[in-house]
Amino acid sequence: MPSYDLRVNGSVRRVDSSDADKPLLYVLRGLGLTATKFGCGLGQCGACTVLADGMAGQSCQMTIADAQGKAITTLEGLGSASKPHPIQAAFIEHQVPQCGYCTSGMIMSAAALLAKKQQPSEDDIRIALEVNLLKKFASLAGPSSRAAR
Ligand code: FES
Repeated sequence: MPSYDLRVNGSVRRVDSSDADKPLLYVLRGLGLTATKFGCGLGQCGACTVLADGMAGQSCQMTIADAQGKAITTLEGLGSASKPHPIQAAFIEHQVPQCGYCTSGMIMSAAALLAKKQQPSEDDIRIALEVNLLKKFASLAGPSSRAAR
């Protein structure tokens, strides 16, 4: 069975799979990285968002073969309870999670934006989080702006 060496949260993880098209989402969850959620499975909801070489992407649409050679970051690798990423700290401070299911994907998209643009506008934030956001989450632009300061 073919093996894939994936760089996930700074560690190399060897994964055996007979299916090169296996979604990265399933691989990550199989590795116990369950902050990455299955939502739609169609690349439309953003619940499965991870960083691949610093770019936000939907892991349900990325195959294990696509992920090989890229630095994959999940919510577990972004920060820790004692040292949260600034966007994680802002989400906690502003009690953003609501039900929490989609929060991981939102944080990953916001973190990718802040890595690329330290002073994003509200429009930048809305565009970057578009895949993650339903209209009711538009208020997240405020906490994300404050995290950028
Ligand atoms: S599960 Fe909805 S975009 Fe991946």
